[in-house]
Parts: sequence; structure tokens; C-alpha cells
Amino acid sequence: MKITPRVFSGMQPTGSLHLGNYLGAMVNWIRMQDTHECIYCVVDLHAITVWQDPVELRDATRQVTAAYIAAGLDPAKSILFNQSQVSAHAELGWIFNCVARLGWLNRMTQFKEKAGKDREQASVGLYAYPNLMAADILAYRATHVPVGDDQKQHLELARDIAQKFNNDFRDRIVAEGFADGIFFPQPEPVITGPATRVMSLRDGTKKMSKSDPSDLSRINLTDDADTIAKKIQKAKTDPEPIPAEAEGFKGRPEAENLVGIYAALADEPVAKVLAAFGGQQFSGFKKALAEVATDKVGRIGDETRRLMQDPAEIDRILAGGAGRARAIAAPVMEKVKDIVGLIRS
Ligand code: TYM
Repeated sequence: MKITPRVFSGMQPTGSLHLGNYLGAMVNWIRMQDTHECIYCVVDLHAITVWQDPVELRDATRQVTAAYIAAGLDPAKSILFNQSQVSAHAELGWIFNCVARLGWLNRMTQFKEKAGKDREQASVGLYAYPNLMAADILAYRATHVPVGDDQKQHLELARDIAQKFNNDFRDRIVAEGFADGIFFPQPEPVITGPATRVMSLRDGTKKMSKSDPSDLSRINLTDDADTIAKKIQKAKTDPEPIPAEAEGFKGRPEAENLVGIYAALADEPVAKVLAAFGGQQFSGFKKALAEVATDKVGRIGDETRRLMQDPAEIDRILAGGAGRARAIAAPVMEKVKDIVGLIRS
């Protein structure tokens, strides 16, 4: 049971995906399909850490799966499935609840943001969320995790959990035949590209997010071409022209964000975009940005809608992916049980 390079990542089926999800994470997911064994999950168990309407959750899970495929993930190449179909996630999540320390979870900024002032009313699941995320990755002993910048802290926690598990059970791990005492790898975050943190179109200091009450703050992967163009037209900017060099972004988060988005969508370095548009007003740049955005995102939206016309086919894809995922995770879980001292038949 050697550790081999393997990619794992996931997205929550809460509302429709947006440009931040696509540029921050999915672009790298698509790229890594050609070089790695990849497992991409729709993390429905994570979604229910806050209330989800059951009918909408099912629909959103299919919708996110359709968006994955529409954006370029190939279910024949990569494993695509929804988390709750593979019980190893929840089982290993429980074991990690017993490995991770309260002090570690208390430092998680995402919990603080999501729970807000009324922490007493947050679900226990929301608090333990990062342990389940570590389980998602480590149930496959995955080595690479392509995500946006906001997931960095959760990934550091996953690394800490892997290390503590290896330390706590070192003797048992060696006895099970892992001579170097390493059962779980240290998963590497893959956070690269010009848009690892896409900001709101209305406020360049806030992350683009599904939970922002203003729909104008984000471009959804389901938006049609007119809506995308309108949102870009209305995006906040400042009165200065586009800078010619990256130093000119200082104190101009909206300008930096829009140029970063263009660079990521056009697959060009930021320097090249600045060389082309430096000194120009935003009005012209926004037209060019709307063009690349409607071309890329508009196509994903159209294809998602087409795929959503056959929900049974999406369910078949998820079931097939879950079967393949289970085949990898089940032997890992058996070893974990042997290492921890749990009797199995
Ligand atoms: P989620 O569903 O919030 O986001 C999915 C992915 O999109 C990235 N992302 C962004 N990237 C750049 N700019 C933004 N504005 C932006 N907003 C979101 C996120 O970084 C993420 O990569 N906890 C995870 C889901 C998860 C997971 C995992 C990820 C569960 N288990 C195991 C990796 C491995 C989450 O809530 O992502």
C-alpha cells in the first residue's frame, strides 16, 4: 500500500458555483486531470453543517456535478461523486475528531466567520468541519489538493492531523508493515494562478462568495451572457486608468481584481494584460473582460443547463464515481481500523 501521487478536492453544493470557484480551484482541477489520478467530490456532508432544504440540496448536488462536467472535468478520466455515497468520509472524520485538538479548531477563521456572533447556535458539524475535510483527503491518502487561497488554513490542519495520527500510532503503523512509520502523507496545497483569491465585484476587499446578499458581487457559472456583461459593466472601479505595471495596484483592490480575472480567463500572465491595457480607461477594458468572460463562463452555463435536462444520467455518473472512490477508500479504512485497534470482520 504505497503512497502514490493522487489529487483530491471538493466543492459544497450550496447555491450555484461562481467565478471564484472556477478560477481559484477548478481551472487547476481540469489541468491536473492530464497529469494525475484525480478525485473530485461534491461535498454534500459539508453543506449540511448549515441548514439546507432537502429538495434544494439534491438539486444543487446535481447542478454542481453538471457544472464540473460542463467546465471540463471528464468522468471517464477523473472520479466524480458526492461525498455521502462513500461512508469512509464520515468514518474517518469521526476518528479524526478524536485526533484533532480543540485548540486547533478554535483557531479556524472560517468557523468564526460562518458562526458569527451567535456561536452557541452553530451546529457541532460546522465546528468539526475541518476534521471531515481532512478525512475527505486522507481517506484516499491524497497528496495534492488544488484549492483557492481561503482553504489554506484548513489544509494546514489536515497536515497536522496526518502527522499526529502517524505519531500517535507509530508503533502500530510500523507493525502493519509501513517501515517508515508513515501511513498518511502530508497533503500539499496547490494554490496557483493569477486568481487564487477572486474578490467581490462590488468591494475589492471582500472575497467573492455565494453568501454575499448582492448577486451583482459575483458572476455565477449559470449566468447568461447578458447578465455577465451587465455585472462586469457595474463592477466597482476607481477613476484612475489601468496601471502599466503591477506596482500600480497598490491601494486599488478593484483594479487588481479585474485584471487578475482577465488574466486567469484569458490564460495570460498579469504582466501581459497590463502591457496591453496599461494607461487605458476601465470602460474599454470592461468590454474586453466581458467578452472573455461571456465566452468562457457563458459556455459552461449553457452546457450545465443541457446536462441538467437529464438528472438520471447525472445520478448514474455520481454512482459510478462513488463505486470507484469506495474501491480506493475501503482498504485505507480497513488499515486505519487495524492501526487504531478496532475489530472488523
Ligand atoms: P467551497 O465550496 O467554499 O469552495 C470551493 C473551492 O472554490 C475556492 N473558492 C475561491 N477561490 C478563489 N476566490 C474565491 N473568491 C473563492 N471562493 C471559493 C475554494 O478555495 C475551494 O477550493 N471546504 C471546502 C470544500 C472541501 C474540500 C475538501 C476542498 C471539503 N472537503 C477537501 C478540498 C479538499 C469549501 O468549502 O470550498
